[in-house]
Amino acid sequence: MIRGGVLVKIILFADPGIDDSLAIMYAILHPEIELLAVVTSYGNVSVSDSTKNAAYLLHLANHPEIPVIVGASHPFTEEPQVFYPGIHGEDGLGPYTPPDDFSASIYPFEKVFEIIEQHIDEVVIVDVGRQTSLGIAFNLKPELMKKVQDIYLMGGAFQVPGNVTSLAEANFYGDPNATNIVLNYAKQVHITPLNVTNRAILSREVAVYIYRLTANPYKELLRVITQYYANYYEKVVPGIKGAPIHDVFTLYYLLNKDKTYTIERDVNVVIANESKGLSVADLRATYDKPTKKHSIALQFDYRHFIEDFISIMIKDVTK
Ligand code: BDR
Ligand code: CA
Repeated sequence: MIRGGVLVKIILFADPGIDDSLAIMYAILHPEIELLAVVTSYGNVSVSDSTKNAAYLLHLANHPEIPVIVGASHPFTEEPQVFYPGIHGEDGLGPYTPPDDFSASIYPFEKVFEIIEQHIDEVVIVDVGRQTSLGIAFNLKPELMKKVQDIYLMGGAFQVPGNVTSLAEANFYGDPNATNIVLNYAKQVHITPLNVTNRAILSREVAVYIYRLTANPYKELLRVITQYYANYYEKVVPGIKGAPIHDVFTLYYLLNKDKTYTIERDVNVVIANESKGLSVADLRATYDKPTKKHSIALQFDYRHFIEDFISIMIKDVTK
């Protein structure tokens, strides 16, 4: 899609969170990505924690000028928010708490429209958190948002078990109204559901290997957050060795479509009742022709994925 020496300009919507943090590191280190901004949100942690974590990761990489834009503080529904300290840590970075004072460029939500307008022909939006902020963007500026060529979402579980309930994946469950707004209004959505991301495992061995080889400013943080993350998954998922880095996979997918099997379908998400957050698509070979042609990733080459992750995470921050 990019290639030929041109950087992909990404706005990353995220709720860091450990795998979100790894995705921010991957974006910062990747020579083919220009990170235009991070839009934070409630989700794995509160919006104030996710904002602080995103800003801290940019500060560590010596990129305090990259805007961190404060997004949604809660979903459209009235339900109380649930955070996930067992998976992501009390503040979102496992056992680590960032200091209170460091340089950062924090902006209110309107900033995202300014950045999209500036880069309308090339910007790609990647949302690896609850979709509330992106849904709000579509609500506030539908005409502008419909011009965004490509939107990537980490979310959903298509005819495989969910993670937050037996049916639903956490991001699509968090605010299904918002997810449906994005799915209904966006030009083209590329979805990386649990079908693939659950298999995008970072093992302890690979995490240690990266730790030993890397000299970049994320080295120490990488060690503690990947250990914390693996501890949780190994406790709750029998036989797993390590933990799935869902949000990293979405960025990998964007840059490596040829290594992934995808199908095109219309998709929507169940809003209420006991099936809340269930992602629905007609996966039959004889499905009705989709109107939207959103794509769903279903298979990938694990070896290529993990080798790519290693090669990016051992880079110095030189961009
Ligand atoms: C998704 O939910 C969050 O916990 C992760 O950061 C990821 O975006 C996986 O279901
Ligand atoms: Ca996330």
